[in-house]
Amino acid sequence: MPTALIVGASRGLGLAMVEEYLKREWSVIATARGPSKGLDALRESAGERLEVESLDIVEQDAVAALRKRLAGRTLDLLFVNAGVSNGHGDTVAGVSTDEFVRVMVTNTLSPMRVVEAFESLVPATGTIGVMSSGLGSVADNERGGWEVYRGSKAALNTLMRSFAARNKSDPRAMVIIAPGWVRTDMGGPQALLSIDESIPGVVTTLLAQAGKPGVRYLNYKGESVRW
Ligand SMILES: NC(=O)c1ccc[n+]([C@@H]2O[C@H](COP(=O)([O-])OP(=O)(O)OC[C@H]3O[C@@H](n4cnc5c(N)ncnc54)[C@H](OP(=O)(O)O)[C@@H]3O)[C@@H](O)[C@H]2O)c1
Repeated sequence: MPTALIVGASRGLGLAMVEEYLKREWSVIATARGPSKGLDALRESAGERLEVESLDIVEQDAVAALRKRLAGRTLDLLFVNAGVSNGHGDTVAGVSTDEFVRVMVTNTLSPMRVVEAFESLVPATGTIGVMSSGLGSVADNERGGWEVYRGSKAALNTLMRSFAARNKSDPRAMVIIAPGWVRTDMGGPQALLSIDESIPGVVTTLLAQAGKPGVRYLNYKGESVRW
């Protein structure tokens, strides 16, 4: 049975990904930085197929400790979902340095540190993925808005491309996901998609990339997003 590590799975899209992989007969190691009623409920039905670990991705010691706990395991999917947003109207002119650093460290530096820490557990047939956003597309940024969040996801995309470029002969699939605008705490009630309209497509897209080397930026329908 294949195993996925899904990082940042307490609620929203991450929790839904855990549920979807369990439905598709995978074992899942899910991380949350605090208690999660959603993961507790899934654990009741999934039993040993779901392991829950504690992790705040910003804390380097915690990342190293989890890496140690998982030594010797095989991760057919390593996926970092955790992320934060800030205001639609926040511009670089108005944002505080602390807020800029919070968003960048959480959405850009920390996911890549998790990728770097755990990638050696992913076999040649495995997949390494991160949750980006359509807002991370530089080419599609014609309407503006969400400047700081956009910048953090565009930088995440670039760092994934750099990771792939540094590991040119790597046979593993590397996937940057744009899940669509989805009704979660972050997406808000006005978002276009329900979780059920996004996440099964995200998981199908990730599964379809296995065995295909190189890095791709794909939406929840499996379509390429412009860089
Ligand atoms: N919803 C959308 O429309 C949309 C669109 C494009 C991209 N995305 C991306 O999809 C991902 C999930 O978004 P969502 O809509 O499900 O948002 P959400 O409901 O706000 O959930 C965010 C998740 O990230 C976790 N997280 C945040 N900071 C973390 C940290 N430092 N360490 C570990 N976990 C952390 C949260 O954990 P806690 O419960 O502990 O806070 C929560 O599980 C994010 O990367 C987001 O940028 C979302």
